[in-house]
Amino acid sequence: MPPTLLRADADAIARAADGLRRGQLVAFPTETVYGLGADAGNAEAVARIYAAKGRPAHNPLIVHLASVAQIGTYAELPEAAARLAARFWPGPLTLVLPLRSDAPLAPAVTAGLPTVAIRIPSHPVARALLEAFGGPVAAPSANPSGRLSPTRGAHVAEALGPHVAVVLDGGPSDTGLESTILDATREPPVLLRPGTLYTALVALLGPLQTGGSAERPTAPGQLLKHYAPHTPVRLNATTCAPDEAWLGFGSGPVPECVASFDLSPAGDLAEAAHHLFAALHELDAAGARCIAVAPIPEDAEGVAINDRLRRAAER
Ligand code: TXA
Ligand code: MG
Repeated sequence: MPPTLLRADADAIARAADGLRRGQLVAFPTETVYGLGADAGNAEAVARIYAAKGRPAHNPLIVHLASVAQIGTYAELPEAAARLAARFWPGPLTLVLPLRSDAPLAPAVTAGLPTVAIRIPSHPVARALLEAFGGPVAAPSANPSGRLSPTRGAHVAEALGPHVAVVLDGGPSDTGLESTILDATREPPVLLRPGTLYTALVALLGPLQTGGSAERPTAPGQLLKHYAPHTPVRLNATTCAPDEAWLGFGSGPVPECVASFDLSPAGDLAEAAHHLFAALHELDAAGARCIAVAPIPEDAEGVAINDRLRRAAER
């Protein structure tokens, strides 16, 4: 059965919260990307997330909560982490924290780790859903494992259709890249995945140590091949062949190729981040031999954009 794509009004949110209570999968918008949510305390519901995404069992999930006051039930919040929480939550930050041994979470949520990733999103629909449900919602990005993240309700309906009971449609995601993940069990905290908060975090904490590697990832989002369209991706392109699609940055459209998308005509990195996944979804569907991607400055949001593009280009 196809999922029900519902405009995220109060009735739809109540219906989605009810679906969570009944162990169903519910997709919802956040300010980063769309999430595929399940009751994090319900082992069967959590198993449905892994099955729907084809996600390896060793890849843990982020627990989404409505408020900081709920954290103590699931995790310890060391003082340095509490300061980050006060500054950036609600918002596009995920903190990896020490897991409480008595946390009422399905074991698969944390994939057996002694830590748990927690995020308090700012998107009004995500917040309303979390408040209506009242408990912890495990939610990875709502895409098949390794594929492009969804920044529109329609992306979820297309990619995960039959697995999802309800897709709450809240329009395009705002920041458009997955949350910045910091391992706050380490002092100073270690960056596991760059996101749009990269510059703000460096300003606050100084240069960030990065954790894990492609060989030994600490966050499986660090796996070298990830965020991948079906069409091959060619980076740092300065030209576009007639059978290629063009992903530009401040270059305007390139009429002589199969399709083109300018991430930001004004050369604005936040705008480029906002458009990145929707652009890749669109160009992936254009039937090109390859997606040629213009160089993106390795600065501010560009750090996170290039992280996603490098993984998208891996074969
Ligand atoms: O913006 C986001 O973070 C979105 C929205 C829906 O919140 N979610 C998201 O989830 O991107 P996902 O599953 O696609 O990426 C979560 C990343 C994975 O790379 C996972 O390995 C890592 O978080 N992760 C989860 N728990 C962890 C833990 N305890 N320690 C280290 N990494 C963890
Ligand atoms: Mg993901």
